[in-house]
Amino acid sequence: MPAELSPIDKAKFAAARRAVDFVEDGMKVGLGTGSTAAWMVRCLGEMVREEGLSIVGVPTSTRTAELARQVGIKVVTLEEAKWLDLTIDGADEFDPELNLIKGGGGALLQEKIVATASDQMIVITDAAKEVAQLGAFPLPVEVVPFGWQTTRGLIEEMLSSMDVMGRQTALRLNGTQPFLTDEGNYIVDCHLKRIGNPRQLSLVLNQIPGVVENGLFIDICDKVIIGGADGTVELRD
Ligand code: 5RP
Repeated sequence: MPAELSPIDKAKFAAARRAVDFVEDGMKVGLGTGSTAAWMVRCLGEMVREEGLSIVGVPTSTRTAELARQVGIKVVTLEEAKWLDLTIDGADEFDPELNLIKGGGGALLQEKIVATASDQMIVITDAAKEVAQLGAFPLPVEVVPFGWQTTRGLIEEMLSSMDVMGRQTALRLNGTQPFLTDEGNYIVDCHLKRIGNPRQLSLVLNQIPGVVENGLFIDICDKVIIGGADGTVELRD
């Protein structure tokens, strides 16, 4: 473990280090986005450089692509890879069914496409992200910039008939400007506090014109690895 890490980074590193044990020579691997996923990319890079591991990686954001190249992982597009053996990514929340909220880092669209195109998705996280019911973390919804206020209004109207506790939405900002995803879209964060039926909410959200994708990952994750600050890990599947 690298020296001088904060307890939370020690936990993230522990989960990332355990997850790369599932990566085998010749695999095509989806590379997630975020601070936990970045540890996994660094660990994989070390295995490529020092142990001769031969893999190709499909990054889920420009940030991850940059880091993967820096650490020596061969980067290919999803079109080139076609289908992946494994995706390893972080999450903002996970529930007992291993359903997730993702998109805190704004990469939910590529993350969902890549994870769905994988035989297996492993989520790496720390214990603070485990919840009995999803929704404390604001649910990110990616929308096209054209008519985004109208789309946001439709989201709010739809939420009023859903089993959720809060209904406030906010356009994600980068300073004073709208935050832009890698696809040039905006993100509306939905402060729902508690999501009664994540599967239904995900389906209904994606039917709204202007919504590109939402951050609920339902039945996509196969395994969660929870890292502890003492270096221990716990597996859920
Ligand atoms: C990015 C994501 C991240 O996986 C999620 O936000 C967790 O990030 P971190 O590992 O930094 O806590 O979904 O879109």
